[in-house]
Amino acid sequence: MCGIIAYRGRKKTAGNLVLTGLKKLEYRGYDSWGVAVNDGESISVCKKTGKIGELNIADLKLPRASLAMAHSRWATHGGVTQKNAHPHMSSQGKIVVIHNGIIENYLELKKKLVKKGHTFHSETDTEVATNLIEEELTLALKKARQSEVSRELLLHAVQSALAQLEGRYAFLVMAEGCDALVAARRGSPLIVGVGEKGEYFVASDIPAFRKYTEHVMYLDDEELVIIDDKGAEFIDMRTQKLLKKRIIKITWKSDDAEKGDFPHFMIKEIMEQKETIQRAINQEPRLIQRAAAMINKAFGTYFVGCGTAGKVSMVGNYLFSKIAHKHINVEFGSEFPNFRHFIKKGSLLLAISQSGETADTLEAMEVAREKGAKLMTLVNVEGSSMDRMADLSIYLNAGPEKAVASTKATTAQMTLLTLLAYACADRLDEGRKLLIETAAKINDMLNPRYEAHIRAIAKKIDKVESMYVIGRGMNYPMALEAAIKLQEVSYIHAEGFAGGELKHGPLALISKGTPCIALVANDETRAEIISNATEVKARGAYVIGVGPQNEDVFDEWIRVPDVGNASPIVTTIPVQILAYHLALLRKNNPDMPRNLAKSVTVK
Ligand code: M6R
Repeated sequence: MCGIIAYRGRKKTAGNLVLTGLKKLEYRGYDSWGVAVNDGESISVCKKTGKIGELNIADLKLPRASLAMAHSRWATHGGVTQKNAHPHMSSQGKIVVIHNGIIENYLELKKKLVKKGHTFHSETDTEVATNLIEEELTLALKKARQSEVSRELLLHAVQSALAQLEGRYAFLVMAEGCDALVAARRGSPLIVGVGEKGEYFVASDIPAFRKYTEHVMYLDDEELVIIDDKGAEFIDMRTQKLLKKRIIKITWKSDDAEKGDFPHFMIKEIMEQKETIQRAINQEPRLIQRAAAMINKAFGTYFVGCGTAGKVSMVGNYLFSKIAHKHINVEFGSEFPNFRHFIKKGSLLLAISQSGETADTLEAMEVAREKGAKLMTLVNVEGSSMDRMADLSIYLNAGPEKAVASTKATTAQMTLLTLLAYACADRLDEGRKLLIETAAKINDMLNPRYEAHIRAIAKKIDKVESMYVIGRGMNYPMALEAAIKLQEVSYIHAEGFAGGELKHGPLALISKGTPCIALVANDETRAEIISNATEVKARGAYVIGVGPQNEDVFDEWIRVPDVGNASPIVTTIPVQILAYHLALLRKNNPDMPRNLAKSVTVK
């Protein structure tokens, strides 16, 4: 969940450089931050609570050095305090560590380390790793009868300590008196950026160093890299073998991860849907056909995702039922392991994700793989854990999505699922035609007048305590997704319901003035959802209709194009805009909702 970046190279401003990179990762974790600068002799650490975005880096007056690492924290173990912020220094000050992930056996290890005389200052699990590495290093130095920390001894100490840890992690380690950097990965992403003339970056996310290089090497699970004057040496921690890594060129530009003229990433990303839906369609048809063949052949297909991606999986279920007459099983990543008994060798799991790093979805993939199922992913981040694990990856090609609220990745995922459903029905051309027309209509729809109309509606409801969203058929999961969008950025209590369920309980929640959004498609569900809107209106609801035509029951109407089976793609967009403007009216930062982080890499 946290942001990690390190630099080792020729520039003597490593500290400033990593903090600049860290600011680009602020969307990943933002309750505190810290930096460690290593000049080869000593390591200075500075850490603070608060947002890194508010820091004037020059004020810190960091020492000149060509090795540094920085971290922005999203608290898991221990509250938001300066002591709990990373980097963490060991009791004797020999080792400094940055960590993402969770060490499951930290309490047990802590007890042993306390007995050996190590002292602890934070409530984090990370400090245990820091002291364990120090313990191993002290033993190794004694055994080698030397006082200087060589790269070999540091490597040995890190590996011996990591072998004792249970859990998932990404670590960056530096040692006093040594100018090498060690980075290790098990279950939490780390990418090495290759700069000019022996310059390297290590980060949890490419935007941290994209400004400096477009060349990367991916670290896989159970792999470690040591970076020093010799360059970057990759080691398989299980076999101790040296690994050869391919340098990969990133396809997106550094500007793609910037706000440009927009006030927030969220609205920039909403508006980008003019192009991203089209980009999602522009897939190699053979790739879509190959994926469709895998789905058609599978003995049980499971669509799995979390949060918004979980709701997209549900939309996929409707799309496949309607278009391809195919049954799909749908589960949230966290619930999937309960159904492991049904997974067979011929089964297929399709993991849907923006980041490709969501821990629960990754666990579902692991469970399915253990059972011999095939793995496929619809993912935005190339080189992410899901991409690397899957037998077949289809990229969303949406460009970096930085706002916590998923928008353009969501519609790209739905576009691809629609394409896949048509391909499974052997009607790929028809599907492409529909989606190309939809993309053109979205392009026309997303204009300043449209946004202003939705903002005017937001102004009428920004003080309410609760609101509801109803939908039927494919727009039922979109009602659930709409509720997530409203909750996470406006903090208004919002819930989504299937229109037909209203009478079975939720209707009791409606009172005079309660906003109720009705998502309407011009299909076989239209008459019934209008009837549901009439039911809530009769109890006093303020009905906001999102659909292709104005209906008598609507108090407000937000027009969306009539696009048949692509309806969920268009009904979600006005709700994204509504949520964004409600957030602004309620003085919330839509890019950084409270208590949430962009990439949920812990379970
Ligand atoms: O990166 P992923 O798509 O796997 O993330 C899954 C969810 O955490 C994510 O969709 C979350 O629900 C969003 N903040 C919703 O806007």
